[in-house]
Amino acid sequence: MPRGHVILCSVNQRAVAGLCLSLLVGILPSPVPAQNPDVAGPWRQMFRRPEGPPPAAAENPLTPDKIALGARLFSDVRLSGNGERACASCHEPARAFTDGRRRALGLAGTSLRRNTPSLFNLAWGKHFFWDGRAPSLEMQVGMPIVEPQEMGGDWPTILRRLEADGELVRQFHEAFPGHAAISREQVVQAVASYVRSLVSPPTRFDAWIEGDGDALRPAEVRGFGLFVGKAGCVLCHVGWRFTDDRFHDIGLASPDAGRGAVPGGMPGLAAFKTPGLRELELTAPYMHDGSLANLAAVINHYAGRFVRRPSLAPHLNRRLRLVAQEKADLVAFLRTLSSRARPAHANRAGPN
Ligand code: HEC
Ligand code: HEC
Repeated sequence: MPRGHVILCSVNQRAVAGLCLSLLVGILPSPVPAQNPDVAGPWRQMFRRPEGPPPAAAENPLTPDKIALGARLFSDVRLSGNGERACASCHEPARAFTDGRRRALGLAGTSLRRNTPSLFNLAWGKHFFWDGRAPSLEMQVGMPIVEPQEMGGDWPTILRRLEADGELVRQFHEAFPGHAAISREQVVQAVASYVRSLVSPPTRFDAWIEGDGDALRPAEVRGFGLFVGKAGCVLCHVGWRFTDDRFHDIGLASPDAGRGAVPGGMPGLAAFKTPGLRELELTAPYMHDGSLANLAAVINHYAGRFVRRPSLAPHLNRRLRLVAQEKADLVAFLRTLSSRARPAHANRAGPN
């Protein structure tokens, strides 16, 4: 099984770089010929979607009532200081919970420092934000609400506004039985539950991985072969969410210190969390700084346009050269990770 080898490669140490390269050439299943009817076979275990509902935190079990309340609060402008902004102002459901901007728009009308990421499949995540500074979704959710340039809210005002809405208070009582008043903790737990329920819909790629050999076109299968082979993308974008949940410097020309500025992070290393690659069709522009406008620009970045510096991830292929056909095939494959439904809906997978 390829899995164990790939995990080896994810260890962020210079020493394994050479090993990873030889793994790419040798141990991983070799680039797949399009005529093979079961090319997905060797990769099935690595890329198969999980069964059952998304995992939840022990202290915040996932319930349908909490998810429904969180969905409502997610687009409730009463959580912001000026009463004009909600989470959904930046995380638009129709754009896979992104905003289409290079970088998010601050309340003062200027750009914030980072691109708004998609919120799909975070129930399986380990650290949140591009630099991973929030260790749980509960911690994360509380931050934009009070952040002056994001929502600029303050809790006494928020709780007063919510308490004045009788119907909403009833919904809180249903989601959190036995609590007299609405609290910050309940708001945070409900919104975190909603975010946990956001699972990207299955796509043609999933059908192919499940054994439907006709689900992908030859160019897309060739692109997958490059993704897991020569191009080495799978060394970081691994599993059905296409992320290793780790931090890497892939050589973007951005002044952002990333993980290097997080206490207990990676001092001096301008690394960022590997984003999942689901629903990419809806989430451009790409990267923590929104600097790459489309998927062709992303492929060109990996094929030689990255900044060469000592902190570059050891297992980033420094010598990747791709001809036009290979670039087109890789983009064609990446597109198969987006569902065809328009507008994209979150597949609200609550617990049974
Ligand atoms: C002003 C736009 C804006 C608003 C409003 C906003 N966010 Fe975000 N969100 C961002 C940006 C930008 C980031 C990335 C910031 C970073 O990494 O430093 C982010 C990151 C996140 C993440 C981490 C995703 C990941 O992959 O780690 C979550 C979860 C999230 N936001 C949820 C929310 C919720 C819930 C709300 C409402 C309470 C909210 N956001 C309000 C722009 C916004
Ligand atoms: C060394 C680990 C690593 C390798 C190898 C790698 N990536 Fe990435 N990828 C990342 C990280 C980390 C980011 C986020 C970088 C940032 O914003 O600073 C990223 C970002 C992306 C994005 C943008 C997603 C978004 O939502 O903004 C795409 C698309 C992508 N990679 C595709 C690929 C492809 C295709 C390959 C192979 C050619 C590849 N990656 C190889 C780690 C890697």
